[in-house]
Amino acid sequence: MKNGTCWLDTDSNQIQAHGGCILNYKDVYYWYGENKDTDTMEDGFAPFMGMSCYSSADLLNWKNEGIVLKPILTGNHELGSDGIGERPKVIYNKKNNEFVMLFHLDNKSYRYARIGTAVAKTPTGPFEYRGNLWLDSECSPCGRDSRDMYVYQEEDGTAYIIASSDFNSSTVICKLDDSYTGLTGEMKTIFVEQYREAQVLIKEKGRYYMFSSGCTGWLPNSMLYGISRQVMGTWRLVDNPCSGANYRQTFFGQSANAFQLKEQWYLMLDHWKPEDLRSSGYSFLPIRIDAEYVEIPWTEEFNGERGNHGL
Ligand code: GAL
Repeated sequence: MKNGTCWLDTDSNQIQAHGGCILNYKDVYYWYGENKDTDTMEDGFAPFMGMSCYSSADLLNWKNEGIVLKPILTGNHELGSDGIGERPKVIYNKKNNEFVMLFHLDNKSYRYARIGTAVAKTPTGPFEYRGNLWLDSECSPCGRDSRDMYVYQEEDGTAYIIASSDFNSSTVICKLDDSYTGLTGEMKTIFVEQYREAQVLIKEKGRYYMFSSGCTGWLPNSMLYGISRQVMGTWRLVDNPCSGANYRQTFFGQSANAFQLKEQWYLMLDHWKPEDLRSSGYSFLPIRIDAEYVEIPWTEEFNGERGNHGL
């Protein structure tokens, strides 16, 4: 698959899984993301079409499993087509055999700033909408905002939301409860006044790495990575890990998720096309990690297991 371009599914249609994530469950990869298969309006808004799912055994051939979380078109619902549903992340809950989808839920002006929750019994859905969460409902006057968000799950099942908050000026890490559809109230604010979004968190050899973009909407900017010894620990922003042509603009992409193929980590990027969001492309780029040093080199292609992983 040629990085930076639109990719096709096994029916030769453009893959609609923007701002997405990949879940590996029982040797099948599931790619969830925003379905933007509609006309983008002049102000860069694409009506909410729901969240798609694609399945694959090799990360190269993707079968369309359809729209697994549909917009709710009755009664001026917050999940209606006038709303925003972005960056869906799906994790599996071993305790009750449920698949939980969490995503950035908003209204057209990005002032609602909450987290949508949905639950399914199978990875291909259908996901049932379970309502919204504020990051901190105790916080006056109306809860704490969250916009771009990510979900990180530890091996022991503990899961966290990582979100841009305080009008994108800081990043907040919040522990989810056992159901993954509620919060425990434990939270930590990091990267204060750093204006980061599009966060992605991974763990490698006892260290946590967080990738993020700056805040320029659909337009590309420089990625930064941060490092910590604990999820809710002391985080330090380090530098731009990208290398190669256009590294300052993250190769004209923005981080969405990371996944592991064998031992190798890959970062998923969206290459947004603000005037026609449905045609936004993707990249899966290898992440080289050597203790505190991280490099994300531009590679022309993602070849799944056949690739040399750019190394
Ligand atoms: C970006 C964000 C996207 C989308 C976009 C809208 O900064 O990462 O997910 O919200 O802004 O302009």
